[in-house]
Amino acid sequence: MCGIVGYIGTKNAYPILIKGLKRLEYRGYDSAGIALNINGGVQVFKKKGKVLELENYCENKNTFSNIGIAHTRWATHGEPNDINAHPHVSMNGFFTIIHNGIIENYEKLKNDLTQRGYKFYGETDSEILANLIEYMYGDGKEVNAETAVRMALSRVVGAYGIVIMCNDEPGKLIAARKSSPLAIGIGDGEYYLASDASPIVEYTRNVVYLNDNDVAIITPNSFTLKTVQKDEEIKPEIQKLELSVGELEKNGFEHYMLKEIFEQPRTISDSFRGRIDPQTKEVFLGGLSEVMPRILDAKRIVIIACGTSWHAALIGEYLIEEYARIPVEVEYASEYRYRKPIINEDDVVLAISQSGETADTMAAIKLAKDKGALVLGICNVVGSSIARETHAGIYTHAGVEIGVASTKAFTAQVTVLTLLAMRLARAHKAIGDERYYAIINDLISIPDKINLILEKQAQIKEIAEKYKDNINSLYLGRGYLFPVALEGALKLKEISYIHAEGYPAGEMKHGPIALVDSNIPVVVVAAKDRYYEKVVSNIQEVKARKGNIIAVVTDGDGFLRDTVEDIMEIPKSDDVVTPLLAVIPLQLFAYYISVLRGCDVDQPRNLAKSVTVE
Ligand code: G6P
Repeated sequence: MCGIVGYIGTKNAYPILIKGLKRLEYRGYDSAGIALNINGGVQVFKKKGKVLELENYCENKNTFSNIGIAHTRWATHGEPNDINAHPHVSMNGFFTIIHNGIIENYEKLKNDLTQRGYKFYGETDSEILANLIEYMYGDGKEVNAETAVRMALSRVVGAYGIVIMCNDEPGKLIAARKSSPLAIGIGDGEYYLASDASPIVEYTRNVVYLNDNDVAIITPNSFTLKTVQKDEEIKPEIQKLELSVGELEKNGFEHYMLKEIFEQPRTISDSFRGRIDPQTKEVFLGGLSEVMPRILDAKRIVIIACGTSWHAALIGEYLIEEYARIPVEVEYASEYRYRKPIINEDDVVLAISQSGETADTMAAIKLAKDKGALVLGICNVVGSSIARETHAGIYTHAGVEIGVASTKAFTAQVTVLTLLAMRLARAHKAIGDERYYAIINDLISIPDKINLILEKQAQIKEIAEKYKDNINSLYLGRGYLFPVALEGALKLKEISYIHAEGYPAGEMKHGPIALVDSNIPVVVVAAKDRYYEKVVSNIQEVKARKGNIIAVVTDGDGFLRDTVEDIMEIPKSDDVVTPLLAVIPLQLFAYYISVLRGCDVDQPRNLAKSVTVE
């Protein structure tokens, strides 16, 4: 949440910062701002709305500078407006700051500063931090900017990724991190700072990811790393970026979301390729090999996640319990972290996260680690905070996901969970050869089958035309397809703002059926799996109440074609891997409804892709 960018070097910083903000806009887009050191003084330009608004505002203004910081905001404290937009400047103008995260003890700090004569122009916690640093700095005679920052941060409770400019020390940026990511790209006589590597990759592949409590002091020719607590230099660990710039472009698609939906045949095979032995078909998960004995001894697996990743977790639960026969619990990270859960040393806690930065998931991981559990991660972003915080893990290879509504990350997570379940099932000798090979072979066939679904996008668009003006909808599924119903409903809600409720089809009679009349579309995920007959009964119940049914059906299901209003067909597949197919038409359906309603598909209102606040 919130994107931060910084540049210091010999180039014109403005275009680098604006381009960086656009790359990071998925993190928040309520307002944007930029601070540049122009002719020896810091100048701030900021605007409510998207980066484009800021760019228009800055047109024809002098923006030339070799040093600057910029921010795109997802509002926490204070409404999105020009005043609350970052960068924030301290009362006497000494410090300018951009901040991602939340200062939890902001109220106390604000009271303390108010008593000392400080005044605030906006409502953000970030402005308080700017003033706290200024207060520590005093007149600058006793302490320098770096020390003032370190002293201020030692009084802060909460999360921050910050970059700071000090008027008295113009050729310098100071950056720090706690629980909010910050990467520093190392160029030749220049440095690039950003919340993730995407704004950096086109300039340099050498990057340092700050750790919690790190403070970096950067000039065009020097990079010094210390911690908040200690005034001693530490050696930065330089990593090589593997990201390519091409991954960050739309490549001819109208939206990132559509591009990402169409990438799924490749991203799913990238997620299993190299992990299934081509001859023996045995699954090998390199990232878990060292901890595998402990996983195999686990009495229980607890999966923690948020949002779409939580839906993938539910599929993981069904898979692992059915085939590996290990008890699994799935938890919302935001609940788990606060509800005093029972965590034993022989538990395995598995965190699933696309971004690897979700604050609630991160906090749940720390809790589980403190209690002695083995904590594993399934993450998409290499080197992300969750990937680094967990004891071991498996990367999904979905590539960069930019559309705020997750698509390819979900199917990559389900792919990896299928591999994990099969690996555990084999090790526990809980699955027969025939069943095992059938599942693995079907998993391998999924990318081709998804291509067949994608070819039918025009039909799905036609169905979307029919239902685009509804304001309510119900999504139903059973077994492995229940989480798919949840995910389908979430996609529609997120990007088209139509209320959509996902439910287990069998549970419909206990409440949601009261909603059914001729006005509500009911999307039923009704592939020919072991639950088919039961789901058909639920369809009849909806029909009896004049509900309009859109069904995701297995190719050639003549009965449902004749029974329901609209069908979206998917190829026949094993029950266990059918979620990977059934979710595709639902992603496309939500996408087209969003486009037809004129919504902002890639940056839906109020949402952010990486939720680094709780
Ligand atoms: C946000 C995103 C969702 C995502 C969720 C969890 O709400 O908009 O798409 O599913 O966070 O994110 P994670 O990165 O932990 O999977």
